[in-house]
Amino acid sequence: MANKIKIIYISLSGNTKYFIERLSEHIEATNDIVVESLNVKDLKGTTFSVTEPFVSFLPSYLNGGNGIHTGDKEVLTTRLGDFIASNDNFKFCYGIIGSGNRNFGSQFCLSAKQYTERFDFPLIDIFEIRGTQSDVKRIANLIIRRQEEFLK
Ligand SMILES: Cc1cc2nc3c(=O)[nH]c(=O)nc-3n(C[C@H](O)[C@H](O)[C@H](O)COP(=O)(O)O)c2cc1C
Repeated sequence: MANKIKIIYISLSGNTKYFIERLSEHIEATNDIVVESLNVKDLKGTTFSVTEPFVSFLPSYLNGGNGIHTGDKEVLTTRLGDFIASNDNFKFCYGIIGSGNRNFGSQFCLSAKQYTERFDFPLIDIFEIRGTQSDVKRIANLIIRRQEEFLK
């Protein structure tokens, strides 16, 4: 088993960051794995080449996204897509986890679904807002399994 999991994500208001902190603690406490994570928000628009497998997390921020007027244009989080697209980094991404708020109806977690079409990697799972402990456990298992398959 690989002894490292790399997470490249974006979190603007902190919900996804909080989820990833709990996820990392859970993975490290229950496996012989070190988790490394990077919030693309902190890169201030710079990119670099990633040459090891990683998993991505993307909350949805869509224009017109108030649950009444439907929007499907990604705003605010596009830096994650720019980072994944740069240097062919998408080749090392083995999947994405989407998050959002169910109040947005059919737009719930839509950005992550859009990335699966844009980059041709799978949607591993989704969770709402800060997630639950059962989301943490389920998503931890899915990521570990998915990385093992990717490395085969
Ligand atoms: C302006 C705005 C637009 C949003 N649009 C969507 C949306 O279209 N679909 C969705 O599922 N959630 C939407 N959300 C909810 C966020 O995805 C959710 O709050 C998420 O947990 C934010 O993650 P972060 O705190 O890591 O930035 C929106 C939130 C804001 C503030």
